[in-house]
Amino acid sequence: MSGEEGIARYRQFLEMRDGEVDFVRRRLSKREDFLNQLARNSVRASAPIDREAYIRGLSNRRIERGLNAQTLWLLATAKANQGERFGVGLAELLGRLISENRDPAQIHIALQESYHTRILAEVIEMFGLPVYPLPPRAFLRLLIHLMIKAPEHFALPLIGATELAGCVLFHQLRDRGIELFANESPVAERIGILYNEILGDEIGHVGFIVARLGERGRVALRQLYLRIAPILVSQVPELARLFGYDQLMHSFASFNLSEAAAELPNLAYPAALI
Ligand SMILES: [Fe+2]
Ligand SMILES: [Fe+2]
Repeated sequence: MSGEEGIARYRQFLEMRDGEVDFVRRRLSKREDFLNQLARNSVRASAPIDREAYIRGLSNRRIERGLNAQTLWLLATAKANQGERFGVGLAELLGRLISENRDPAQIHIALQESYHTRILAEVIEMFGLPVYPLPPRAFLRLLIHLMIKAPEHFALPLIGATELAGCVLFHQLRDRGIELFANESPVAERIGILYNEILGDEIGHVGFIVARLGERGRVALRQLYLRIAPILVSQVPELARLFGYDQLMHSFASFNLSEAAAELPNLAYPAALI
């Protein structure tokens, strides 16, 4: 399938998956339905979480001693989206986010990113905990500035590399969350639903970028991905503590976009594979 053909199919998929786009309110009709449905069947976790330690952890650069895996997972979840939220906010301030003449797929993607913030907040909320919109750490902020301001031929492989790294992290966090809360099956199930919603989108975001790149751009994406993954991990220290640094690097090296997409047939459509 050619890049163009993949993109055309991706646009169709997005329409089907997201429903109608409301520019003014920045909403996607089917995503609203999804969140409303979850709100009607809310799930409350009973796992004891040290609320004060969690709140301190949100702004801590280092990991406090004695945090259990559940609290580390919640902190990693709360921080997983800092980068994207910051990027989307900045792009919006610069007037780069939504305009009528952009590719409709780009509009869907930008709006999906703001749903990811809400979805991750839903995860945290099951535990009765707050999420604060804190900025990501300095290196990530720098990277985001670069991605927004650089010319597209340079920025695209870079954005693709971070989206791909995001797929791996969301995949890992989903599986670990399901495992950690396995004794409360409604909680584990809800974690799976919420994380899959994000993961499916991110797979599509990667595919959309790959479909627009030539061979050189794809090579650049792969190289950047392997370099950026450890840096991203260093920005959220809870990740290495939770998964082990080497294990995480192994997950980055072995991640397969096509297999991940096949796992989520109704949620993910990669316009091209890498
Ligand atoms: Fe996202
Ligand atoms: Fe994304």
